[in-house]
Amino acid sequence: MRTSTSIARAALALTVLVLSAVCSFPGASCTKVSYDDRALVIDGERRIILSGSIHYPRSTPEMWPDLIQKAKDGGLNTIETYVFWNGHEPRPREYNFAGNYDIIRFFSEVQKAGMYAILRIGPYICGEWNYGGLPAWLRDIPDMQFRLHNQPFEREMETFTKLIVNKMKDANMFAGQGGPIILAQIENEYGNIQSGLPDQQSATKYIHWCAEMANNQNVGVPWIMCQQSNDLPPNVLETCNGFYCHNFKPKENMPKIWTENWTGWFKAWDKPDYHRPAEDLAYSVAMFFQNRGSVQNYYMYHGGTNFGRTTGGPYITTSYDYDAPLDEYGNIRQPKYGHLKQLHAMLTSMEKHLVYGQQNETSFDDKVKATKYTLDDGSSACFISNSHDNEDLNVTFEGSTYQVPAWSVSVLPDCKTVAYNTAKVKTQTSVMVKKESAVTQGLKWFWLPELLKPFCTDRSGSFRRNELLEQIVTGADKSDYLWYKTSLTSGAEEEFTLYVNTTGHELYAFVNGELAGYQHSVNGPYIFQFQAPVTMRAGKNYISLLSATVGLKNYGASFELMPAGIVGGPVKLVRPDSSAIDLSHSTWTYETGLYGESIQIHLDKPNLEWSCHPAVPVNRPFSWYKALFHTPDGEDAVVVDLAGLNKGVVYVNGRNLGRYWPSYIAGNMDGCHRCDYRGAYKTWDNQEKCLTGCHEIGQQFYHVPRSFLNAGGLNTIVLFEEAGGDPTKVNFRTVVVGSVCINAEKGDAITLACANGGTISSIDVTSFGVAKGQCGAYEGGYESKPAMEVLSAACLGKESCTVHYTDELDSAGSEGSSVLTVQATC
Ligand code: GAL
Repeated sequence: MRTSTSIARAALALTVLVLSAVCSFPGASCTKVSYDDRALVIDGERRIILSGSIHYPRSTPEMWPDLIQKAKDGGLNTIETYVFWNGHEPRPREYNFAGNYDIIRFFSEVQKAGMYAILRIGPYICGEWNYGGLPAWLRDIPDMQFRLHNQPFEREMETFTKLIVNKMKDANMFAGQGGPIILAQIENEYGNIQSGLPDQQSATKYIHWCAEMANNQNVGVPWIMCQQSNDLPPNVLETCNGFYCHNFKPKENMPKIWTENWTGWFKAWDKPDYHRPAEDLAYSVAMFFQNRGSVQNYYMYHGGTNFGRTTGGPYITTSYDYDAPLDEYGNIRQPKYGHLKQLHAMLTSMEKHLVYGQQNETSFDDKVKATKYTLDDGSSACFISNSHDNEDLNVTFEGSTYQVPAWSVSVLPDCKTVAYNTAKVKTQTSVMVKKESAVTQGLKWFWLPELLKPFCTDRSGSFRRNELLEQIVTGADKSDYLWYKTSLTSGAEEEFTLYVNTTGHELYAFVNGELAGYQHSVNGPYIFQFQAPVTMRAGKNYISLLSATVGLKNYGASFELMPAGIVGGPVKLVRPDSSAIDLSHSTWTYETGLYGESIQIHLDKPNLEWSCHPAVPVNRPFSWYKALFHTPDGEDAVVVDLAGLNKGVVYVNGRNLGRYWPSYIAGNMDGCHRCDYRGAYKTWDNQEKCLTGCHEIGQQFYHVPRSFLNAGGLNTIVLFEEAGGDPTKVNFRTVVVGSVCINAEKGDAITLACANGGTISSIDVTSFGVAKGQCGAYEGGYESKPAMEVLSAACLGKESCTVHYTDELDSAGSEGSSVLTVQATC
């Protein structure tokens, strides 16, 4: 056994680097934020920060108070968000701060809840957001180079940063003004891509410029930069992002800050669903605080929805659920939420010890250690961690022996009693189900075709070139769609193969108004070669190519330069004898967007002649569909089931819910077949685990926020189906708690709860030694009649109930297993 004692740091008064010696903003209720090597210092006190990311545009203002309150009830004291530049400034100097972009309203809600806030301006944010948050129109500015030292980029970045800072100042949102914001971030993970950039000197100058520009804003709170350890400019705090950050070593005199503890992972159309087990997430948090961490943020605490055209990627789904503690719709995800809540309560109760205590470590081997934090008054708080993948251990510490399961941390708030172990989940599992809603069955559909003609005449906004242009720059990302149209005259009817080399993401080819073929790239290499047999008739022929993007890239060195569309082609017509007509330098007419978009079909204006005669067509590409539906009763979240459709966009009451693509089936991955929370969690290198949904529809259900619906009235759903699907299968559902389950040991409190007013309708399982099945489908074990009686009496008809697992519940016939499994239905 090896014992190492780190000497307590000098008195706080000597070490605190007072960032803002006086409150930066004169005012009655100003809060001073500074830091030292242990923690943020807020009004003279070192604090631990338990924070969660909630991205305001990924939910609705009506959802914000509930999400924030749930975060607070879950034991957090801080809310973090990025700022979404291309959402706020869709066109140069045209701003949007309304609806789910009302950033001030969002921060006011955080303040109202009595929580702190972290403002991550970026304004490059990554975040699986379209183009990493940067507006595509930046590309129109001459000499623009993203994220390097150049006047055009720095000028635009500064203009936007100032705009946000000034908005926040005007609303008194910074701590020094009595507001909630205690930290601000500039740039995002620049260090991860810096060495891959084309000009290293320019990169260094840029990141130093970022820090200086940020500090010049005088926000009165520290600025942070995440993942910037190699080239950290002065006057910014470096922070860590990842699944684990306990080994992160901040620079001298800086606290250990974890800006992104990934609670799960984002989903792409071709991928199954990622799940990070609650045990592992709790382990990572406990390890961080055991190892002097003091600021920790969950990325994401609520992931939400990529409404409209906001997904990045490409190929990130419209859902940004993230397996976060609050699900896409804002429901509590159990057991993750509850398991973390218990840990937060422990950590909060140990706050003083963690940030003021003298730290003393006892190592048992290189993966097992006990850490003791002792205050001057002699009181102490301890952690014992076991980072072995599969060895449960007995650890003898200060005269007592503790059983510490593999890959877990025990928390002993008094250094004697284990009050919490990250591997022992004492919270119920809730299985959420999508319940069919009777009010929306048998919808009556109407339709309109997308206008594909005229083939070549110039519409307003169109232009001509004798070359094939890149799509992002050409269309400034105003729409997913860009038309490339040309014509050629043929002496006689002739068969060809049409070849189009494109950089993605999708391509439709029409010859004389008829669809000749459709292809999309696979996720990853977006470049592909389209090919389809086509017939040229004698005389004039029209070739119209429709290129579509599915969210612009958001990550990587020079990510913005990754092209989309038919850049240079070639586009060729090849005869059976291999001779070819190269159309790459023909006259191409360019037109951004669809006709239906230009007349805003989704707003269902009165002059539109929707038809339903003789019947709406099915599997017809380029069709707009519409139906009316009633709002499902109650408070439960509403989703629309789009299985049966192919690819397109869905609107409800004129609001864009996002792209849908239910014809995209998630692939098979080994991670669907293994799930052991023990051992490092990873979402790459074929090391994924705990995946679900292999071979299933990538995303079948799409969130319809309640606030988009007319309470008690009729609503309009409009679909643009680009690839051909069946709207008659569309139905609406509500998201409710189905089964709830818990495993309890003697002495535990068994708490079961439904949600949104639902009550427990049956107790299904009360058995010892259940080895098979998952919540909702447990089998086997020895049924305990006493437990069934006690739980039935206490829980049936109730929204929630708590029963203590005492001898009374114990079953004589349990044959050794003392773990009681309970399953109930809400
Ligand atoms: C980080 C990035 C975040 C987000 C996350 C993955 O690298 O900073 O913005 O993209 O990865 O969800």
